[in-house]
Amino acid sequence: MSNNDLTNVILAAGKGTRLKSSLAKVLHRAGGRTLVEHIVRACGPLKGRETVVVVGHQAEQVAAIVEPLEAVTVLQHPQNGTGHAMLVAKRSLGRAKLAVVLPGDAPLVRTETLKALVTAHRNGNAAATILSAVLADPSGYGRVVRKSETTVASIVEESQLTDEQRDINEINSAIYCFTLEKLWPALAQVKPKNKHRELYLTDAIAVLSAKAETVLVQVAADSREVLGCNTRADLADVDRIFREWKRNALMDAGVTIQLPETVLIDPDVTVGEDTIIVDPDVTVGEDTIIEPTVQLLGKTKIGARCTIRTGSVLTDAILGDEVTVEPHCVVEQSRLDDGVIIGPFARLRPNNHLKAGARIGNFVELKKSTIGEGAKAMHLSYLGDAKIGTKSNIGAGTITCNYDGFHKYPTSIGNKVFIGSDTALVAPVRVGDGAYIAAGSTITENVPADGLGIARGRQVNKPGWAAKKRRDLAAAEKPKKTSKRKPRRTSRKRK
Ligand code: UD1
Ligand code: CA
Repeated sequence: MSNNDLTNVILAAGKGTRLKSSLAKVLHRAGGRTLVEHIVRACGPLKGRETVVVVGHQAEQVAAIVEPLEAVTVLQHPQNGTGHAMLVAKRSLGRAKLAVVLPGDAPLVRTETLKALVTAHRNGNAAATILSAVLADPSGYGRVVRKSETTVASIVEESQLTDEQRDINEINSAIYCFTLEKLWPALAQVKPKNKHRELYLTDAIAVLSAKAETVLVQVAADSREVLGCNTRADLADVDRIFREWKRNALMDAGVTIQLPETVLIDPDVTVGEDTIIVDPDVTVGEDTIIEPTVQLLGKTKIGARCTIRTGSVLTDAILGDEVTVEPHCVVEQSRLDDGVIIGPFARLRPNNHLKAGARIGNFVELKKSTIGEGAKAMHLSYLGDAKIGTKSNIGAGTITCNYDGFHKYPTSIGNKVFIGSDTALVAPVRVGDGAYIAAGSTITENVPADGLGIARGRQVNKPGWAAKKRRDLAAAEKPKKTSKRKPRRTSRKRK
């Protein structure tokens, strides 16, 4: 169905007093995104004329998030309620006939649900259609007072409920479809008759109903979709649901997740490249195993048959197939090709490329480095601004000294190079293919291919030196002991 007569309106100007935060409510995050971003994205596929976001508190920050998603903003100042927010949006709605109106704080709503709402609205030729939900605990929400089996008389806010209405467990999601030529005259009759002296959009429902306009209600199939975020506890609940949906999608596509409730995966993370599931952006490689307490963040992409072991945090990482991330690794903006093994306890800072079969062991830190195919750095090293060739071996404790306090310099190590343990490579420096570096060297000059670089004091062995030292020490001790004791005894006897 074409929706070129429809505009989306997101009400996102409020402060969110109940969060007790200096950050505007819609800028809080759940499920890896700000609340408002989730909602703009859910509206996008409706393909309406445009998405108008009403902004107020921290308007610039909200605009900075929604404008790149092709939404337009309109400023509401001061914020005199959801009805007032709608009036502020009016001039931006152009020739739209219908509006899908959403709050900025109910981020779980799905596009399919919005599409069904619009369809019900069109089919029923309604003035307004409300998305409702039936909740076990409806407290905090406006309640839907029905007029008939299918129509609504009014929405009553929590603060204005009568005793009988308090038991109604069908709540207003604050997601609606309105026929605008019916909404405007109804909204004009709404008065700010509540204790906050705000104009409530919800009060327009009773006005429409009293005018014998059709107000329909559509019950959300999954009541979790309409949950709003008024408090920190609400944010945590909503985050938990997003994370569960994301994990379930990956598990459905063949990823093993152990103790799934402990694993955090951001919405843009993909695992594998073969199988396409629900959302076309989400792809999944079969038989990857994700152990407990792993976090996969940002735009991380993981291939098939990988193992991401416990406690590892991957942000914007790209992994090929059969990669193993041992426990407690931290990986940022790095590429790990097929068969790479890292960790336990490896730290990959941004911009590394580990080529097929490379191995990075415990307490190794990498930054802006390329590790060649099958190359290894297994223990206690820092490799920064370094290029390491195929099958080279970096010994324990190797350090690239890439910074002189002013600038950073590169280190280049060829193919099949052997760097002995505890080597300091003072950059800029190059080590040619097939070269050896003796352990404990401080390398300040280039080492030619197939050569040996050795830069340390020459060892001298002195036979018998230790034994003689021990004898000398023992001899020096003895007379001291006797001379101390003797005078004491004599003095006692004299007394
Ligand atoms: C609102 C509904 C309530 C519904 C609940 C669902 C009203 C009066 N009540 O209550 O029936 O059950 O949502 O979650 O609408 N906003 C503005 N400008 C304003 C005031 C609010 O843009 O002047 C925005 C807020 O930023 C927020 C949204 O409107 O994103 C809803 O406001 P909020 O204060 O959260 O309303 P609720 O009390 O939750
Ligand atoms: Ca709310």
